[in-house]
Amino acid sequence: MKNKIIVAGSSNTDMVVKVPHIPSPGETVMGSEFLTIPGGKGANQAVSAARAGGDVAFIACVADDSFGKESIENYRKDGLDTSFMKVVQDIHSGIALINVAADGENSIAVAPGANSRLLPEDIYNSRKAFAGAGIVLVQLEIPHETVHAVAEVAGEENIPLILNPAPAAKLSPGLLKKISIITPNETEAALLTSFNEINSDTIPLMARELYDLGIETVIITLGSKGVYLLDSNFQGMIPGYRVKAVDTTAAGDVFNGALAYALSQEETTRRAVDFAQRAAAISVTKMGAQPSAPTFAEISGYNFT
Ligand code: ATP
Ligand code: RIB
Repeated sequence: MKNKIIVAGSSNTDMVVKVPHIPSPGETVMGSEFLTIPGGKGANQAVSAARAGGDVAFIACVADDSFGKESIENYRKDGLDTSFMKVVQDIHSGIALINVAADGENSIAVAPGANSRLLPEDIYNSRKAFAGAGIVLVQLEIPHETVHAVAEVAGEENIPLILNPAPAAKLSPGLLKKISIITPNETEAALLTSFNEINSDTIPLMARELYDLGIETVIITLGSKGVYLLDSNFQGMIPGYRVKAVDTTAAGDVFNGALAYALSQEETTRRAVDFAQRAAAISVTKMGAQPSAPTFAEISGYNFT
């Protein structure tokens, strides 16, 4: 069984301030705690897949600064294969400034720094990592030409590719056609399709439009409501798990990492989605991005009331 997982993507350090509410433009809000937390969509997904039980290689780029060094150390502690990571000079490692409000919602500004130096040639140079892998996972917090290179290599190696199209961006049909599984949230799905309004009528239509491009599995994540799944076996809502939200940062990342793990174990899509929703709901009950990613034991044993 080919169950190695390749994650290509960003690595950030999150600077988090807890605030009573998200500041409006021009507003200063007095916060409480300040935390420095490992983050970045790519890293969050790689760590989530590894904690869920996966054998994960992470392709990413950090700077030769204290944040970059600490990130690599953390990834190694989580068991990631970091041998395909690149370290660059003359730029800072990726940084995200995050406000987390009392209701668990957040706002995020990212300075990509070294993430912008993860280039197509780095993907071609990592071809060895792809050989024998069972699934590839990528997001959009790295240059889009690099995402194209990931799709190209995954296609040539015949490995299913999951694209989590976050942060939201328009993408070419040429790229979308190379994706096996896509996991937008509702805003990202609207941007990728011809729909402006987001409601219970348009979400199935957005999923159908993506499916008709040739994407075999479309999973639109809908926050606490769960997901809308469309594949050859099923179309419809799959409700999520009810939890008290502490911090929703990286819920989507934990969902994608756990999904990749479950699919690498050849679970059915329905079962993989259920596993991923359990993992994501648990992550929402904890503060921070990577610290909130649960282990296999937590995901299997969590008692949702
Ligand atoms: P983020 O940008 O916050 O990482 P996202 O917008 O990419 O997330 P969401 O649709 O918000 O993705 O969440 C992904 C999945 O996480 C959902 O489909 C659901 O399973 C789970 N989830 C998110 N928020 C909650 C919540 N408040 N309670 C329970 N589960 C949640
Ligand atoms: O998806 C959450 C992540 O987005 C954070 O960890 C932050 O680094 C930004 O990249």
